[in-house]
Amino acid sequence: MKSLPVLAPRLQIADATPDHLPAVREIYAPYVLQALCSFEEEVPGVDELRQRFEASRHDGLPWLVALDDGVVVGYAYAARYRSRAAYRGTVENSVYIRADRQSRGLGGQLLRALIERCRAAGLRQMVAVIGDSANQGSIRLHERAGFVRVGVLHAVGHKFGREVDTVLMQRALAQP
Ligand SMILES: CC(C)(COP(=O)(O)OP(=O)(O)OC[C@H]1O[C@@H](n2cnc3c(N)ncnc32)[C@H](O)[C@@H]1OP(=O)(O)O)[C@@H](O)C(=O)NCCC(=O)NCCS
Repeated sequence: MKSLPVLAPRLQIADATPDHLPAVREIYAPYVLQALCSFEEEVPGVDELRQRFEASRHDGLPWLVALDDGVVVGYAYAARYRSRAAYRGTVENSVYIRADRQSRGLGGQLLRALIERCRAAGLRQMVAVIGDSANQGSIRLHERAGFVRVGVLHAVGHKFGREVDTVLMQRALAQP
């Protein structure tokens, strides 16, 4: 009898749980400490990440993880863009892929899944606030997911002794 091909892919995208947050922190830490994509300068602790996670959940917004054989290799989440009431339909997204797993399509898969979840939740607009106008990976990722560039805020950050821009990109979520 012929053997069956292996059908079960090791990679899956799943809802994050609090148990994933230590791994999320491990992925995020080098970007805080060494890169300009995050404007944080101190690595948040797991308790702080849990508060962010719970805040998104409280607002009905998704946190997703990419799992390779159960190991977290990337994550993405949506948070309220601004707290004032009339921004209720707009979210800001974040996507981080473990450094050794970049450029293999994971970020795109996570972002597309996040968009679908937000669309299904009835949200209207997603905004990406991309740290550093030289962050070609993130700009390309968002372009490929249907975001358009709406502007640059020049020198609004100051990290590692230099001024840093943010690139604003936006995507409508509602079905045309
Ligand atoms: C940005 C990031 C999330 C992209 O995820 P990824 O899994 O590496 O990206 P993908 O493999 O899904 O690629 C998506 C697109 O971006 C392109 N891309 C990825 N990395 C790139 C890079 N460094 N430079 C230029 N293009 C890049 C890919 O070629 C692909 O475009 P294509 O479909 O036209 O070939 C990931 O690189 C990352 O975690 N970077 C550091 C953190 C960060 O900047 N997060 C975004 C915060 S706003």
